[in-house]
Amino acid sequence: NSQSLKKSYEKYFDIGAALGVREASGTEKRAYPILDKHFDSLTPENLMKWGSIHPRLDEYNFGPMDNLVELAEKLDARVVGHTLVWHNQTPNWVYEDENGELLSKEALLLRMEDHISNVVGRYKGKVHGYDVVNEAFFDDGQYRTSKWYNAAGKDFIKRAFIKANQIDPDTELYYNDYNMWKPEKRDAAIELAKELREEGIRIDGIGMQGHYGLESPSIEIIEASIVKIAEAGFKVMFTEVDIDVLPNPVNRHGADIDATFEADESYNIYKEGLPEEVQVQLVQRYKELFELFMKHQDKITRVTFWGIHDGGSWLNNWPMPGRTAYPLLVDKDYKEKRDIIDTLIRVTEQ
Ligand code: G3I
Repeated sequence: NSQSLKKSYEKYFDIGAALGVREASGTEKRAYPILDKHFDSLTPENLMKWGSIHPRLDEYNFGPMDNLVELAEKLDARVVGHTLVWHNQTPNWVYEDENGELLSKEALLLRMEDHISNVVGRYKGKVHGYDVVNEAFFDDGQYRTSKWYNAAGKDFIKRAFIKANQIDPDTELYYNDYNMWKPEKRDAAIELAKELREEGIRIDGIGMQGHYGLESPSIEIIEASIVKIAEAGFKVMFTEVDIDVLPNPVNRHGADIDATFEADESYNIYKEGLPEEVQVQLVQRYKELFELFMKHQDKITRVTFWGIHDGGSWLNNWPMPGRTAYPLLVDKDYKEKRDIIDTLIRVTEQ
């Protein structure tokens, strides 16, 4: 108990990790003991996204996700479905007819519903909850002008939640986004969730991704979002936690990054290893975050790390390829960072 994160947090919330193809299939042998010891929730990092699980119109690639579900059974871990509808990693054919013309609203929604039926149907009873829709808002709280939104307005969101619930009425349904500490964005997500609920559409929770830096966002501003989401009557989960110790364009995240932005080596300053004083800051930052999570453990149902070990983190590729990132609990050689893990365990004993 004194060694394991999942056991220490058992009474409070699930502890999750995002897995790649090799971890899910067992090809990466070093992953299993870590997963077994620390995690009771698994999220597919990429392998359930549309482009991966449904690469062509009549072709599904269920193998990698089947592996993840099987692994979860072995580990007695819950599965999070990530993600059914997103603007990213969705092939262009999805939006187009056989002549390359954009589909009408209704044709696109039918295609989306068909995808949801097939995916949710296959894993019926095996997925604890789905990130049904991912990242539908810009940071200012406006709806993201994605191909989904441009074609269907917010009906794509409603129809996605309705369909997922119809196919598997027992699975939980979430809305998931990054920078949810930003009041405008958080409030927009809460408004959406309330709208769904008022129309009788199931939505259980709101996922705050949690791609954070060492200093930003502040604990207070994250706390405000936890409280607001819970006050509105929705479960809170931290769905993609990692802490980037490197300089990063905080407000230019992912798809919101503007086209003129070019990262250079100044975003990769710890190539030779992480200085001791920065490691201390990383431990401290994780400690403060988990103290916050524990303070609100009645509102939070899960905290998932976006990867198992530093070597596999997406932050090695963002905002530029070839970075050496240190965001997770296990280093690139699969060695546990016991300073962080022990600190997080002590947080439960305070
Ligand atoms: O699988 C291909 C491989 O065949 C090819 O050789 C290689 C060359 O680039 O690309 C591989 O695909 C990459 C994929 O990850 C799997 O490794 C994609 O290029 C790459 O874009 C993709 O990145 C993922 C990203 O989502 C896609 O937007 C990251 O791993 C994943 O961590 C990241 O996760 C997202 C969440 O889903 C939503 N929230 C933000 C978060 C971080 O961006």
